[in-house]
Formats: sequence, C-alpha cells, structure tokens
Amino acid sequence: MKALVVNGPNLNMLGIREPDIYGRRTYDDLVSLCRDAGGQAGFDEVEVVQSNHEGDLIDMIQQAYGRYDGIVINPAAYTHTSVGLLDALKAVSLPAVEVHISEVDAREAFRQVSYVRGACFATVTGEGLEGYAHALRLLAARLSAR
Ligand code: DQA
Repeated sequence: MKALVVNGPNLNMLGIREPDIYGRRTYDDLVSLCRDAGGQAGFDEVEVVQSNHEGDLIDMIQQAYGRYDGIVINPAAYTHTSVGLLDALKAVSLPAVEVHISEVDAREAFRQVSYVRGACFATVTGEGLEGYAHALRLLAARLSAR
C-alpha cells in the first residue's frame, strides 16, 4: 500500500510562516511525521512532495496514477482557487483526503471555499501537523476496506 502526500504553496515555509497559525514545526518535521504515521497506519511507502506551482502539483497528481493507492493533499492557497487540482484528482480517481493544518472553516470567508473537497472522501482541518497522521489513517482504513 503506497500513499502520496501532496503539499501546496508556502508549506515549505512551515516553522517560519505565521507560527501563531501554523506552529513552529518545520516542513522537514512534517515529512518525518508523515513517514512515521504512514508506517504505523500500514503503508509500505509514503512519499511527501511539495510545490509552490499549481501546474507542478497537477503533474504530481497525474503521475500518482498507477503508482500510488491513494493521496493525502493539502493544496494550501490553491484549495480556494483551483479547478485544475480538482480535475486532476477526479482524473486519476484515487481515494483522496484533504487536510489543512488550520481550521479553515473558521477563518476568512475565502478560505471556507474548497474546490478539491469535491474529489476527496474526507477532510481533516484544525488538527495541526497531526492532522496528516489522521488523514493517513483515514486513507489506510478506506484502502483496507476495498
Ligand atoms: C492551509 C490553509 C490555507 O487557507 C492556506 O492558504 C495555507 C495552509 C492550512 O493547512 O491550514 O497555505 O491549507
């Protein structure tokens, strides 16, 4: 069982960007957390990727087809704008979980809109970096139930 964890713009700045919202742990900490939590959830492989560019994120989702069993995705700012990411998730039709570090539904109105949500079977918000562990457990449970 293989999972791809896709991270959008500015998540490489974790630990530096708005620590009152996103905490002090770094992107490297997030990568380690995903690998550890994914292993505990039963994944043989968890690859964690990040890009600041919408088209690169679309390429990463397309390349997951046939290589990964499911996707955990934090599209960051593109959550609220990108039909392209929604369509890419629909195109590969892999089980996907949307994750956000912050409680997006309790923030500005523009953050309460998610395009990718329409292609995800679950959404995890407001659990900090641990939300990725939660999302990986949800994905593992979904894949095991197939
Ligand atoms: C975020 C929330 C988004 O609104 C924001 O643009 C991000 C991070 C989160 O993880 O809480 O970059 O996706």
